[in-house]
Amino acid sequence: MHMAEVIRRKRDGAELDPATIREVISGIVSGEVPDYQAAALLMAVFFRGLTDAELVAWTQAMLHSGDVFDLSRLPGRKVDKHSTGGVGDKISIPLAPLVAACGVKVPMISGRGLGHTGGTLDKLESIPGFRTDLSPARFIEGVATIGTCMIGQTESIVPADKRMYALRDVTGTVESIPLIAASILSKKLAEGISGLVLDVKVGSGAFMKTRERARALAHALVGLGNRSGVQTVAYLTDMNEPIGWAVGNALEIEESIEVLRGEGPADTVGLVVTLGGRMLALGGAAASQDGGEARIRAAIADGSGLEVFRRMVAFQGGDARAVDDPGLLPVARASRDVEAPRTGNVQAIDCEQVGLAALVLGGGRQRKEDRIDPAVGLRMRARLGAEVKAGEPLATILFNDASKVPEAEALVRDAFVIGGGRVSAAPQVLEVVE
Ligand code: URA
Repeated sequence: MHMAEVIRRKRDGAELDPATIREVISGIVSGEVPDYQAAALLMAVFFRGLTDAELVAWTQAMLHSGDVFDLSRLPGRKVDKHSTGGVGDKISIPLAPLVAACGVKVPMISGRGLGHTGGTLDKLESIPGFRTDLSPARFIEGVATIGTCMIGQTESIVPADKRMYALRDVTGTVESIPLIAASILSKKLAEGISGLVLDVKVGSGAFMKTRERARALAHALVGLGNRSGVQTVAYLTDMNEPIGWAVGNALEIEESIEVLRGEGPADTVGLVVTLGGRMLALGGAAASQDGGEARIRAAIADGSGLEVFRRMVAFQGGDARAVDDPGLLPVARASRDVEAPRTGNVQAIDCEQVGLAALVLGGGRQRKEDRIDPAVGLRMRARLGAEVKAGEPLATILFNDASKVPEAEALVRDAFVIGGGRVSAAPQVLEVVE
């Protein structure tokens, strides 16, 4: 393979054949392709895109750069869910146990926080003792015996993504729809699933700020998933305010438990029921979306989802007593309200700023080696469209390090647009792509 020629061909808009793509990706992983040539090729892809055939070959090459789970000995269809990332997005945490309680297995490889968005793994690790670094054999055992298990990507799962993501991050090539689609799907395909529900977030707290970009990503993901043999459906959902009331790792675990107890906020429960209903339909445990939703609601009402969560926490080394006594989760030492500067209606919330406030408090990483403080975060006190009076709380900041509070407070206060006109929040589900 002549790498400079491959770069030139992509630069000029020619289609690369699958064998070349395989060689390039394996060269990037082994180091045979130096970073400068890999980065040049990524930039050529950024501008030229990938054809459908190239995207499938690219994703397969990434997938087979590492271990792929073989769950074929487990009976039934296995289904997973993935979110493109949001603020207060704890949906996977109650969702996976509820779907498992209804008889569909959910082998979930989750991610860590990225930028202003939180990560499922960071949230789960706020449960004392909880481990997300299980061996492949233990992961499969968890899925087989409990119905779900949630782990992180290891060195051996899609190493090509780790390598390429690091390069994309520093070469201005993260925001490429085919590269995002290949990155997400390669990791999901490694789980050995047959169905996938995607939650593509749109709005001020999402990576995709416009409906057009989100729709384009959803179409790329659904097309790629289906062509790769996984029945894939994408929901475009609103991310113009945090999901639920809690933003922060332990706070979101507590709110997830509330959902499983039937005491969760309506928006959070709504998303769990919609996405869960579709997962059950894809997994063959429900004949329709409505039937699936009814089963998820029943698994909340009868506590069976909560029981699966309890078992999963214990299986993954966590203190399962925290599921019944959230007082055992880390708690911040102090709190302060952010007050409304004027009277009016909440017209808009810059949700990314709310996510950044949680990050500044220590709930996320500013550098990759940073340690997360699981206790800190925010409790939202006002939603879009709410009437607030000057001096009333918009949010409560929960903190351990007082020096971080002024910056977080300013971010939250500036995130709220309060004015005279009435607004109503957008519907939660904007579109379904299948
Ligand atoms: N999430 C991923 O896993 N990969 C991307 O490229 C972007 C978001």
